Amino acid sequence: MYHIKQPIAYLIILVGMSFIACKQKEVAMNEKQGLKNVFADDFLIGAAINANQILEKDAKALPLLPQEFNSITPENIMKCEIIHPEWDKYNFDLADKIVALGHKNDMFTVGHTLVWHSQLSPFVNKIKSKDSLALFLENHINTIASRYDGKIDAWDVVNEALNEDGTMRKSIFLNLLGDDFVTEAFRLAQKATPNSELYYNDYNIEQPKKRAGAISLIKKIQAAGVRIDGVGIQGHWSIKGLPLEDIEQSILEYSALGIKVMFTEVDITVLPNPWDLKGADVNQNFEGSPMMNPYPDTLPDSVQVALADEYGKLFNLFLKHKDKISRVTFWGVSDANSWLNGWPIRGRTNYPLLFDRNYLPKPAYDKVVSTKKVKVQGS
Ligand code: XIL
Repeated sequence: MYHIKQPIAYLIILVGMSFIACKQKEVAMNEKQGLKNVFADDFLIGAAINANQILEKDAKALPLLPQEFNSITPENIMKCEIIHPEWDKYNFDLADKIVALGHKNDMFTVGHTLVWHSQLSPFVNKIKSKDSLALFLENHINTIASRYDGKIDAWDVVNEALNEDGTMRKSIFLNLLGDDFVTEAFRLAQKATPNSELYYNDYNIEQPKKRAGAISLIKKIQAAGVRIDGVGIQGHWSIKGLPLEDIEQSILEYSALGIKVMFTEVDITVLPNPWDLKGADVNQNFEGSPMMNPYPDTLPDSVQVALADEYGKLFNLFLKHKDKISRVTFWGVSDANSWLNGWPIRGRTNYPLLFDRNYLPKPAYDKVVSTKKVKVQGS
């Protein structure tokens, strides 16, 4: 009897020991928690931060930033209307501060953005001649990018130059400079900031037609012998279903161009989309409408769980292609800061991020962390 029981006892001890080891590994991961640590071997984890956070006035965000994130992007303060308000006037106060904050916390700091048709200063929209606009572009990129050479790790050089069908978006840049303005912007940036990585950034460029447009744009830059280091897929998605197949295909196709792939403005809206409703007029019809703002006080558990599931699927995909993905940045720190409370309809209560309005981790946060834990335990 003794001889039979002994191996069984050994087996039980062995199983017990490996269970404890597994638990210890999990506990060790929890102790080191903070998304940036959880995904340390995979990709950077970033957040867009607003002026209040840059000024270190947001008491709840302050401890969270260095604990959870190892990359930051300014949500607004490096956009033309703020950093370059008049032809010969620049306002570097907040930009200098975010650079200092990034340096202090050893964070990968992204400049956003040098060339974008939106949030331009009024003086730019008044420019009428090709020569003046070319001079603006040269001054703007030289002055800003060279100031932060060696201090800003990467720039979204051009933002949102494409239409949904992959053609070039009508903008003051396209109208006056022609479609070479994108290559030209990268050429100027590479000269002004040889030590920063240079990216093209856009939304919906995981969608097949727009993706094809982005790929030809990137190839055109490369063919001109101009440096482009990466592409940023913004990642403003909806709980109604993530385009996971398109995202995966995009990761593969963009990385085949020899550039880094990153997700630069991730958020998942849980609110109804006015464009899905026939005849929707975004800012007039639906402002203040309870139908379009269904969760003004709290998010129902079922939606909370659905949001977590979508985030889980997304991060499983990111982990599958971690060798091709260099960064995942959320567009905001907590739900309280998200631009999606005000867009595309003002005054709504949205829940698109991993931290709630009290800056506490949501079930979606745990789900994201668990995508990694399952891997560790299973490995
Ligand atoms: C948004 C900001 O979050 C808002 O605060 C601002 O009012 C408008 O711009 N794509 C981009 C970002 O590249 O710069 C935008 O940021 C969101 C969409």
